[in-house]
Order: sequence, then structure tokens, then C-alpha cells
Amino acid sequence: MNNYIYGLDFGTSNSALSILDIRTKEVVHTFIEASVLYFPQPLTSRDPVIHFVGKEAVKKYVASAQEGRLMKSLKSVLPRTSFTHTYIYRQKYTAEELVALIISHLKKLADDWTGEEVTTVVLGRPVVFDEKRANDQLAQDRIRKAAQIAGFRDYFFQLEPIAAAFTYERHLQKAEKVLVADLGGGTSDFTVMQLDPNRAHSPHRKQDMLAKGGIHIGGDDFDSEIMWKHLVAYFGYGLQYKSYDKMLDLPLHYFRNICSWEEMNFFKNKKIKSDLEYYYFATGNNEAIARLMTLVGDNWGYALFRAIEQGKIDLSDQDVAEICFQAGNIDIQEEITIAAFSNTIQKDTQKIGNYLDQFLADTGLTYTDIDTVFMTGGSSLVRPIRKMIEERFGADAMQSGDNFNSVANGLAYCSVLFGEVS
Ligand SMILES: Nc1ncnc2c1ncn2[C@@H]1O[C@H](COP(=O)(O)OP(=O)(O)OP(=O)(O)O)[C@@H](O)[C@H]1O
Ligand SMILES: [Mg+2]
Repeated sequence: MNNYIYGLDFGTSNSALSILDIRTKEVVHTFIEASVLYFPQPLTSRDPVIHFVGKEAVKKYVASAQEGRLMKSLKSVLPRTSFTHTYIYRQKYTAEELVALIISHLKKLADDWTGEEVTTVVLGRPVVFDEKRANDQLAQDRIRKAAQIAGFRDYFFQLEPIAAAFTYERHLQKAEKVLVADLGGGTSDFTVMQLDPNRAHSPHRKQDMLAKGGIHIGGDDFDSEIMWKHLVAYFGYGLQYKSYDKMLDLPLHYFRNICSWEEMNFFKNKKIKSDLEYYYFATGNNEAIARLMTLVGDNWGYALFRAIEQGKIDLSDQDVAEICFQAGNIDIQEEITIAAFSNTIQKDTQKIGNYLDQFLADTGLTYTDIDTVFMTGGSSLVRPIRKMIEERFGADAMQSGDNFNSVANGLAYCSVLFGEVS
């Protein structure tokens, strides 16, 4: 019998594991890691395939000059039936085996901390993995299987924003109707809950969960928009090339693909290399095409997106940020103001806003029915998004907690709902 239960938030960008002490019903520690895997290229075909997780993965990848395989945002591929497995060098990994590498890593850190092999975990899941029911179920099954592979025997699922609500409830003195906005890397999730500190330990909370919903837009999309609106011209967007006696646009899909570093990862085949060489020639050796060749050919996608993300993060508390990126013949120094950034992500902001309006209307609630908006997740720090929410509910209603471990803590607290802690 364990003295601890874990709450595990497997996120698109970051994963967190919180340790609940069953005796005190308190979270005693949280581990957070970037949801990133790195497989260095084996020196010979006889060498085993090894991997690194989180910060260590990023460090090793950068130190290797982008050799080997880096995987990120795995959560967003979990609902895809087309993604069953991948070969990493000669070793086959299923989707759940890849996720299990991240979960095992966190479990090991936590087990070392507690000195126990903890077997019970409350797993988070977004409100919507996928609009298609079968794909949604597939994603949840894959996380469950990953938890099994990592050594958990008993597992329960809870929605991520509901978990965040339970964390917020710990700080309440009185009952409140709360909208939880969990704005992450891949999704923006909402729930409305009736919270009451006096009911925090009750296992009968179903009727307190008034509404739930979510939309597939998150911080990763804002990064892609920055690339699309501010940086694609560095790589040849807008150029034309000469084909016989006509001037034609370069294929649009190149520029769409480089707006997501994952797509860019699959963009490095021989055909594309020779096509780019052709366009370089047909544009009269245009420097921008040479940059595109470096970006794709030398795997700079991840590093460039880190620079973009950093610019976005700087704009959470600065009015002007600079996206700086140097690699080979690429030298980007792009200033971006908060006003320009608001414009850049305006469509996404509007989509989230429209979704939120419809979501509330469907529950039969109005803005004034909501006492508090509890903002969590990294993207809750994005100012245009905060502003959009604040305009609806008023500045006084806005509350936020710890943006990166509210969900994992809440998942651990939730174990009471499953009768694991009484
Ligand atoms: N200070 C900040 N300002 C703006 N955005 C930020 C900040 N810090 C982190 N982010 C963004 O928040 C996102 C990650 O947030 P979080 O860790 O909550 O997501 P996640 O839980 O991994 O994703 P999901 O819940 O969608 O699966 C990333 O897009 C990151 O760029
Ligand atoms: Mg999250």
C-alpha cells in the first residue's frame, strides 16, 4: 500500500507530475518537464537507440548540432489514426511507447523522491482531444496504455480544467461559480464549476461541474502565426521564379509547412532538396531561397521556433520584443510590438472568443453569472488573450494561479473523487 498518489498532466508543451501525500491530503512536490524526446543518432548500427527527456533532451539536441531525432507536441498526434508507430533508427516505437518514455521519466523522478514505487495515478485529459469520438477515445486509450507501460497499475481520468478548478478551490473562503480557462500549447479548454471549499473533500462533485468545452487553438498556433506573418519573407515567400516565359509564385505549401516545425521535420527529403536547388537557380540565386535550404536542410526548425516562442513570451511583460535568430546564412532580427502581435493572432483570439461566447450561451449562463475566471496554462499569460477574456468578464473577476502546475496539483487532489483518498 502506497503513502502517495500521483496526478499527471501530460501536456502538449510541458508535463507535470504532482505527488499527493495520502495522510495529509496535500500535494507535497511537483516535477515539471518539457514534453520533448530526443534520440541521438547511434554511432554504429550495432549501438542501441537511447533517448533523453525534457530539458536534457533539448540540451543534447542543441549540442549535437541538430543531429538525431527530436520529438515534441506528441500529444497533438495522439488522436490520429494514421500515426501508429515510427521507426527511430531501427527501433519501432508505437505512439503509446513514446508517451510512456516521458511518463516513465517523471514517475522515476517522483518514485525516487517518495522512496516508493507508486502505482496509482490520476491522469489528465483535455476536454476535447478530437471532435471525432473514436479519435478522442483513441487518444485517451493511448495515454492509459502509456501509463501502464510506465508501471502504473491503477489509473483514473479527469478533465484538465476541472483539475485546475480543484486547485483554485483550495484558496477559496466562500462558494463561487467559476469559469476555468486552461490555455495551453495545443488547446484552450473551459469549464464552469460551482466551487465550495466546504465540499472540497466530498467525492460527490458531478453536479458541481456545470459545463465543459474546448477548442484546438493554443500557444503553438500563436508561434506559427508569428512565423507566417513576420518571418516567411526571410525564406522567400512572395518571390517569383521564371518558368520558360512566365513568372510564377513559389509553391505556397513550402511556406505553410515551415510555419510548424513538426511539418518542417518531415520536409527534408531528396525531392525537396532538388526542387529547392531548382528554385534557387530559377530565382537568379536568390538569397532567401538559400536561407530556406539552410533552414530545412540543416534542421534549424526547432531552434527557430524557440526564438519565436521567446519573442512571444517577452511580449507578455514587454511592449516590444525582438526575435533574434542566427544560423549559417540566416540572420533574423525582427522587432515585434505588442500591437503587431495582437494583430498577428487576432484571428485565433477571435476564434477563442467566439467559442467562449457560444460555450456560455449553450450553458444558459451570462458573463455576470460568473463570479471568477480562473486562468491557468502558459498561454493565459498572452496579453491579447487575457484582454479578450477581461473585456467579457471584467478585470475584477480575473484570477490566476501557478500557470504550470495547477492542473497536475488538481489531478492529485482529485483522487478523493475516485475514492482513492478518503
Ligand atoms: N510567459 C508566457 N507568455 C506567453 N506564453 C507563454 C508563456 N510561458 C509559456 N507560454 C506558452 O504556453 C504554452 C505552454 O503552456 P502549458 O505548459 O500550459 O501547455 P500544455 O499543458 O503543455 O499544453 P496543453 O494543455 O494544450 O496540452 C506554450 O505555447 C508556451 O509558448
Ligand atoms: Mg495543459
